[in-house]
Amino acid sequence: MALLNIVTYPDPLLRKKSRPVTGITPRILQLLDDMRDTLHKAQGVGLAAVQVGVLRRIVIVETEPGQLYEMINPEILSKSKKTQINNEGCLSVPDKWGQTERAMTVKVRYTDRNGKEQTLNAEGFLAQAIQHELDHLEGIIFTDVAIHMLTEEELNGD
Ligand code: NI
Repeated sequence: MALLNIVTYPDPLLRKKSRPVTGITPRILQLLDDMRDTLHKAQGVGLAAVQVGVLRRIVIVETEPGQLYEMINPEILSKSKKTQINNEGCLSVPDKWGQTERAMTVKVRYTDRNGKEQTLNAEGFLAQAIQHELDHLEGIIFTDVAIHMLTEEELNGD
């Protein structure tokens, strides 16, 4: 088990565009394992490789414990017009929360760790997390797209 350091805002690396993975090498498989361990330790639901300092198009998402998606070169094929508004945070932006409006469902294509192409229809929280992680591959952070950042008062409310 290896834990990786999580890059935090305002590190300029988070603004860079990630490059495609050209081959699933032992190094990529090790990165996936280390990202999973790092995600679990941080108790997050998603992590992009750029967040651990690797500018490659890799994200992992686990919105339900035990249901881990490892996505290499993921691409959103379609999004629903119907949207969802939820609170959202990011391991790279500690202690900040914002409301985002994102597609309710997405269809995403990616390569899995075995080199097999997969297509996933995701909805709700999983779809939200996938959109958040794929934004990271373009250098976009949720605070860029949030329709409202939660204030201290709102965070401490009720
Ligand atoms: Ni994030």
